[in-house]
Amino acid sequence: MHKIIAANWKMYKNRMEAATTAAEISAGLPGVLPEGREVVVFPPATAIECVAQAFRGQKALTVGAQNFYPAPEGAFTGEVSVDMLRDVGAEWVLAGHSERRHIFGESDEMVARKAVFALSHGMKTMLCIGETLEEREQGHLYVVLERQLTAFFSSKPDAMADEALTGRFVIAYEPVWAIGTGRVAGPGEVREAHGVTRALLEKFMGETGKKLPVLYGGSVKPDNAGALIALDNVDGLLVGGASLEAQSFLQIIGA
Ligand code: 13P
Repeated sequence: MHKIIAANWKMYKNRMEAATTAAEISAGLPGVLPEGREVVVFPPATAIECVAQAFRGQKALTVGAQNFYPAPEGAFTGEVSVDMLRDVGAEWVLAGHSERRHIFGESDEMVARKAVFALSHGMKTMLCIGETLEEREQGHLYVVLERQLTAFFSSKPDAMADEALTGRFVIAYEPVWAIGTGRVAGPGEVREAHGVTRALLEKFMGETGKKLPVLYGGSVKPDNAGALIALDNVDGLLVGGASLEAQSFLQIIGA
């Protein structure tokens, strides 16, 4: 399957820093990008436009937004719409990142509403799922992933055909205990969680569920990226800290 390497820059980099890193990624890409791989960078909202400019003309490089509010426009102080994000060059959005769920209290229902809204307004969408350490230790991996995916599939309107999601909808499995902790999930843990995710996608979507990329995220670094991306059902990586520096991210892209 086509693989996606994504960078989540979180709340790091002003416009100048973002433009510099984006230009370095763009310049270094031709030497490292394997066939059939695409790269998506999610900068902070204020830097989307300058990253999009730095990526212009590079087909394999696209830009996304880390957050948005699921309404076309309106009295939502402090929020940004998908049309506004598209206007500055975003083609992708993230929904359900663990920091949005846990720091900002976004419920499964809110995350599902956001993902459905973005998809129905023409944005490619990366839906993040994943269990906390406590949930894993209690043996609740399956239940948590099922609950998070059920929230999406039960709010997806019938008019949004499963086949129409191919190429536009991606799942990122990010175990909360591996995010920003330096503790990467082991191969057995990743294989298990990605196997569960694939089985759930097939349960909800049948054959189409086999075609959706499932990315791994959580302490991905240049020295573990190659082993992670080689695992069954790992169709890409979502990288936080190690994507902030172009050379480190380029090594991951090429892993
Ligand atoms: P780290 O790679 O810094 O662990 O962050 C992972 C992440 O949250 C990507 O969305």
